Amino acid sequence: MKLCDRLFNSSVGAKMLMAVTGLMLTGFVLAHLSGNLLIFAGAEKFNAYAAGLKSLGALLWVARLGLLGAFVLHVYLAVKLTAENRSARPVKYAHEATIQASFASRYMIHTGLMMAAFIAFHLAHYTFRWTDPSFASLPEGDIYAMVIAGFSSPAVSGFYVLAMLALSFHLCHGVSSVFQTLGLYHGNLNPMTEKLGPIVATIVFVGFSSIPLAVLAGLVK
Ligand code: HEM
Repeated sequence: MKLCDRLFNSSVGAKMLMAVTGLMLTGFVLAHLSGNLLIFAGAEKFNAYAAGLKSLGALLWVARLGLLGAFVLHVYLAVKLTAENRSARPVKYAHEATIQASFASRYMIHTGLMMAAFIAFHLAHYTFRWTDPSFASLPEGDIYAMVIAGFSSPAVSGFYVLAMLALSFHLCHGVSSVFQTLGLYHGNLNPMTEKLGPIVATIVFVGFSSIPLAVLAGLVK
């Protein structure tokens, strides 16, 4: 009980929990990206990958629950820490730009909440299939056809690309600062960890955006 209190109620503990849950979510994003890129290998490989995931059964549900737990905790702590920071300093700094370093770091809560909204839409779109009536006529298990049908709308594709931009800003700062929060920030590592955020952010933006853009350009059909 005491450990839980320390973790949730001290801002250092809360930041550590944010770092660990953030790492778990980043791991999922990279795994999801590598699976999704199989779309460029054709319908058969992509659908086989999706079917393979489904066949994991109980294991898939354990992973989903772990992911959901990490996500809920990450968002809860982000909102709590932001509210605490704001009430500790109700008057904004006169020269905020000089005190808070980069664009990405200043807007973590905004890009984070945009991601929460994106994930809600994304689940309604491809997991529950509530938003696009054309999915109902697709053959069962043809995830490839569903993704192509989904991204043939420029508005939907444009929304995904914008969301990926928000995600990459979020990861740019998040991934670089996770090492500092977890105390893994040492002299020789600094230049490497500072670059890791922008590298992961670029891979995520280019990788995910390439899918809706390739569908719109007719390169994947
Ligand atoms: C071009 C970008 C993306 C594509 C094409 C895509 C594709 C998909 C598809 C097809 C599914 C449903 C799979 C199925 O029901 O068999 C799915 C589920 C999901 N996606 Fe994405 N996704 C993209 C980006 C993202 C991003 C950026 C995130 C998170 C930040 C994300 C998080 C999820 C989650 C949490 C699920 C539910 C997983 C599950 O039910 O086990 N996706 N995605």
